[in-house]
Amino acid sequence: MPDLDPRLHNPALKPLTRRDLLRSASAAVAVAGLGPVARAVTSETLAAQAPADKAKAFPNGFLWGCATASYQVEGNNTSADLWMMEHLPGTIFKEPSGDACDHYHLYPQDISMLADLGFNTYRFSLEWSRIEPEEGFFSNAELEHYRRMLAACREHNLTTLLTYSHFSLPRWFAVKGAWEQEKAADLFARYCEKATRHLGDLVGYASTLNEPDIPQLLNWIDLPGAPAGMSISQMMQMGRDNIRKQISAPEFSNFFTGDPKKTRDGLLAAHAKGKDAMKSVRPDMPVGFNLAIQDDQAPPEDSHLDEKRADVYAPWLETAKHCDYLGVQTYSRSFVGKKDLPVAKGVEQTQTGMEFYPECVEHVVRYASKQTGVPIIVTENGIATEDDTRRVEYVQKAVAGLKRAVDDGVDVRGYVAWSLMDNFEWMSGYTPKFGMVAVDLKTQKRTIKPSAAILGNIARRNSL
Ligand code: BGC
Repeated sequence: MPDLDPRLHNPALKPLTRRDLLRSASAAVAVAGLGPVARAVTSETLAAQAPADKAKAFPNGFLWGCATASYQVEGNNTSADLWMMEHLPGTIFKEPSGDACDHYHLYPQDISMLADLGFNTYRFSLEWSRIEPEEGFFSNAELEHYRRMLAACREHNLTTLLTYSHFSLPRWFAVKGAWEQEKAADLFARYCEKATRHLGDLVGYASTLNEPDIPQLLNWIDLPGAPAGMSISQMMQMGRDNIRKQISAPEFSNFFTGDPKKTRDGLLAAHAKGKDAMKSVRPDMPVGFNLAIQDDQAPPEDSHLDEKRADVYAPWLETAKHCDYLGVQTYSRSFVGKKDLPVAKGVEQTQTGMEFYPECVEHVVRYASKQTGVPIIVTENGIATEDDTRRVEYVQKAVAGLKRAVDDGVDVRGYVAWSLMDNFEWMSGYTPKFGMVAVDLKTQKRTIKPSAAILGNIARRNSL
């Protein structure tokens, strides 16, 4: 690994000290008043732990981290398609993203906090709309910003998982038809090439695309409260027609609102060309992508499980066979009838209406590994809840399941929680709380939740 470039240090940006961190962790406990969980979040538990019991240990070098995505935390991504959509009359967004968590400016303290908690990995994404705000204009200053972020991670011994596109797009790219336009893959590949040339030497693992199967997946999910049989995908496409009229852009499309099949074809081509572009600059950089995989299960009658898997995952699992690794992202299970069936009555649900089902992690890594044969990294997993005790239980069960898979020989290289902090949950705005760290949106104060300290300790020990 090359040495840290001295240009990248910025003494003006003061990192969060260990004392700040502990003060914040104790504050979280004081506020939460969480009995046994609270006792787990003390300065002792944040300090180094006793050597771990071998039977509970994960393989050496296991990646333990938290994830964010540029649009959800940076704030003020004014050149993005979503920013424009948020501000249109009748927008489908609950509220605008605004300053978000101001991670764009506060990343030094956020990265230092992540490392202090015990993690060894940070997954974050580049905001293409900052790097190429107008077609063909690449901002050196914005590339330098991401270079400083990568350098801060290296300074804290964090392995970086860098996603090149996490849903949001440059506005100009969306206006021209997003992933459905003929030149989509070439435009994406040019951006991948430029970004890799500028940043590649500091990247641990690169990912072309975040959850490129979402457009197909949304076809399988009915929108609650919508006319019967209307999928989220169909509702999104109706929304797109309105946007086209409102902004007088007849070709406008984007990640969420595109025609699912055409979008998928565009994304498959973009992944292939983007990956080649990255490898042409840094052949030894591990490249993969992050796939959304629900723990799909067959209901007692009328199962369409195989059909769903063929429709949503198969093309991507095939693609993953040619990657250096596959990132899997899972939150819950679904019983698959003609569409995903509603969560059964009486079953515990998270803030986003999913079943509380941490076992999904074990099942999904086994499935993805068997289908692809490449190393698997869990690049997102977590729950939306205001009650952090539920997150603690969820995470503990999730990593225990992961350990069972590892013990059975499944080639899993890491576990990355979604998310480092409470953030902008797309159309749902700031209501769902996925964070391990709370954020006061007015003051930008971070408050560490017990779940962060507990998972951080597992990370520090590399052991259950
Ligand atoms: C996405 C994240 C999102 C999370 C929780 C994943 O599908 O990659 O951006 O916030 O799920 O909904």
